[in-house]
This record gives sequence, structure tokens and C-alpha cells, in this order.
Amino acid sequence: MKKITVLISSVVLAFGVYSCDQPQSNNTDSANNDTIASERNLGNPADVKTDSGPFQLPELKYGYADLDKSIDAETMEVHYSKHFLGYANNLNKAVAGTELEGKTIEEIMKGMDMNNTALRNNGGGYYNHDLYFATMSPDGGGQPSGELSEAINTAFGSFDELKNQLAEAGGKRFGSGWAWLVVDNNGNLAVGSTANQDNPLMPGLEISGTPILGIDVWEHAYYLRYQNKRPDYIDAFFNVIDWNLVAEKYAQAKAE
Ligand SMILES: [Fe+2]
Repeated sequence: MKKITVLISSVVLAFGVYSCDQPQSNNTDSANNDTIASERNLGNPADVKTDSGPFQLPELKYGYADLDKSIDAETMEVHYSKHFLGYANNLNKAVAGTELEGKTIEEIMKGMDMNNTALRNNGGGYYNHDLYFATMSPDGGGQPSGELSEAINTAFGSFDELKNQLAEAGGKRFGSGWAWLVVDNNGNLAVGSTANQDNPLMPGLEISGTPILGIDVWEHAYYLRYQNKRPDYIDAFFNVIDWNLVAEKYAQAKAE
């Protein structure tokens, strides 16, 4: 009996070694196959649909792989089609049959009952990710111009100092959360951070105002490529910021 067991083990081991050896005999083909399989599995962001309800996922203006200089395609796919979708679906469930069904997401944020955990987490998750995905672009990076640039210089002294403050806000946020650039209640730019899926529209937080840029510092936003190096992710994020859109949001917030 012992001999039979040893024989079977040897056959299994030999087959295992043989199988493991095969991809190594042609690494290029293997890498190509992995890429093809990965691309096939990622799907199309346009196919991602929410369950019924007033809050839908916004269309992405780029593909999952288009921000690869800063964020890998798999992270983008999971972030958009799983995390963002989950917040949207759960927000729709939270507002179903309530007076909130007819309100905008901004109205819901400003009137948030901070003891309503489901609405706070999922409403915040929906609002925050809507802004996050909108303010990235394959053509992003560089520096803003015009009125936003002037306002940054007035508030922070320079663009580099704004960048430093955003990186510090995101880097120091313990656990999960967001770093924000907001137009505060006096119309000035300010930087801060919030925990979990809170945001500066919600009442009673350490930073208050209208967000025009949010950096997601949850691990799901960066862990596949950056692991524990959150500062590297934040640094790379600056290369995909769509400053034209941030400038539009700045103008809208100032006009409110
Ligand atoms: Fe996220």
C-alpha cells in the first residue's frame, strides 16, 4: 500500500513539475496570454449598470487601462465596477421609499443625518467616487491655469505647496478616507481630509466646503500596484488629474 501511495505521489509530482515547467519554456507567450486574459476579463465600463433607483453610475470618459501611467487597469475595473457600483446600489436601497428619492446627491450630503450609517457610508461613497472618476483623465497632469491657478497661489503660495498639503492630508489619514481640495464657505480654497466615505459637504466635520478634487486613499484605490506605498500612489495621481474639470468645478462652486 505504501508503495502505491509513493508511486501516485511521484506521478502527481512529476505531472506538477511538468506543468509548471511548460510556461517557463516560453515566457513571452505566457506574458501575452496573461495580458489577453486580463483584458478579456476586465470588460467594458459602459456595461456596468446599477440596479433600479435614482442614482446611476456616470459614464467613464476613458477605458480601464487608459490611466495605466498612474493606476493599473485591474484596480480601475474593480474600483469602478465593484466598489463604486456597490455604493450606488446600496444608496438606491437606502433612499427607496423615502423623501430622499427626489433629492440630489448634494442635497442629501448637506442634510446628512450622521447617525444614519447606511446613508452616510453609501451616499458618501457615491458622491466621492462620482467626483474621483470624473476628475481623472489620460490627458491629465500638469498644472491648472487661469482663475484656479490664481486662487491656488493666493491660498497656498504655489502649486507645489498645494501638492504638498494634499499629499500630507492623504498620507496622514489613518486607515481609509479621502484628501480634499475644497472651496470653503468664504469662497477660499482649502485642503483637508475626512475618514471613511465622509466628505466636506456633510455637517460637523473637520473640513467644510464644496469639494472640487478628491483623492481616494482607501487601499482599494492603489494596493495592487503600490501596496503600502500610499505616498507613491498620491504622487502618481497628480499625473492624471484633469485640471480643466477641476477648474470648472471651482467656477461652479464660486458661483453658488
Ligand atoms: Fe474608492
